[in-house]
Amino acid sequence: MVEFGPEFLFGVATASYQIEGAWNEDGKGESIWDRFSHTPGKIVDDSTGDIACDHYHRYEEDIKLLKRLGVDAYRFSISWPRIFPEGRGRVNEKGLDFYRRLIESLRENAIRPVVTLYHWDLPQTLEERGGWGSEETVEAFKEYAHFLFRIFREEVELWITHNEPWVTAFLGHSEGRMAPGKQDFALALRVSKNLLLSHAHAVSIFREEGIRKPIGIALNLAPIYPKTENDADRQAALRFDGCLNRWFLDPLFRGEFPEDMVMWYRRKGFPIPPFSDSESRLLTKSLDFLGINYCTRYVLEHGEDPALEARVARVPGGEYSSMDWEVYPSGMSEIVCRVSVDYSPRAIYITENGYPYPDILLPNGSVVDEERIAYLARHLASLHKAMVLGCPVKGYFVWSIMDNFEWSYGFSKRFGLVYVDYETLQRIPKQSFFWYQNVIRRRGFE
Ligand code: FCB
Repeated sequence: MVEFGPEFLFGVATASYQIEGAWNEDGKGESIWDRFSHTPGKIVDDSTGDIACDHYHRYEEDIKLLKRLGVDAYRFSISWPRIFPEGRGRVNEKGLDFYRRLIESLRENAIRPVVTLYHWDLPQTLEERGGWGSEETVEAFKEYAHFLFRIFREEVELWITHNEPWVTAFLGHSEGRMAPGKQDFALALRVSKNLLLSHAHAVSIFREEGIRKPIGIALNLAPIYPKTENDADRQAALRFDGCLNRWFLDPLFRGEFPEDMVMWYRRKGFPIPPFSDSESRLLTKSLDFLGINYCTRYVLEHGEDPALEARVARVPGGEYSSMDWEVYPSGMSEIVCRVSVDYSPRAIYITENGYPYPDILLPNGSVVDEERIAYLARHLASLHKAMVLGCPVKGYFVWSIMDNFEWSYGFSKRFGLVYVDYETLQRIPKQSFFWYQNVIRRRGFE
């Protein structure tokens, strides 16, 4: 029996742009994802998040689903331009009112709200003034965070500043696969630093406000392996680990960027100034918990790309999901144990773990997603192993409660425990919904 005990938080996760829709309603400002998805050629199926799951209008129905599922907590993000249409200054009361109603209704249903402040939908006005490459955005984030801390304070169970700053920085500003779609490695590095600083400053404001709830950040972390034992592959793996994992973990727990990476980037023509002493101090005091989004490991070989000279390799005979991610359940305990040993976080939450599958709605109205159930069970069992070994894991969030707009993949990837018919917007619980419902009820599974 894999058992998690009564205190463990079972939840599900979403993000504003992926589910809300109502992209220009009730005074909401434009976000970089509105702009990006409206740009031809950026989204594989030419879709947008204009309507998405229409959660903005259907949140009551969605909370009923959460209630039926029996989750202890619900992780969602707040759309910054819904609250501050111009990024800073004027508040849009109607947008704020939506989150007031959402949080109130969750609490009435005994579901603990877990809020992510930034899950990638930056106000477009701020992007036009330099976006995350500019210090103005750091200032604006502090104001935005402060405003929400004051409004919701202890009504929110857990606060998360950023979701996957690695994705914002590198996929958004170097690869260009995500909004704002820039391709500039030096900019990506500057963005990564600004994201970390905006996190540290926001947490310091949070502490000054005296709010007695935990605050943290959600990083996408993964175990990294070299494809072969030869030196070039091993060095490539080390660098990828430096870029994906240590580039964020080291500042947050040790107050500085990893030295090997700073030197490597300098040699490549991408110098990055160190944190000042006061910035380091803020960073190392900034986490009550670490959120880990885990879905795959990476196997690396030497490559030709100018910044890292590293390339993700395919594992021969490996099991892959439709996102081309290797299914690697033991990576869950590996990454949790590694972080626990190397960085000693006070607490860990798995803030995302989920499986994309081309689900089919059968004529009898059911969705039999056995692959997803197997994926989730294997990952939960692996997580449990890390807990038995003493890692301080306090909760687990499935990505996602329902199928939604999967960024540049549009609606072509389904991650939900609930199937969404995008024609009618009808929600249909999949078999995995009932499986997870049972896991939560029994606090574990056989
Ligand atoms: C994570 C994102 C989340 C979702 C899942 C599949 O990287 O945080 O929004 O797209 O992947």
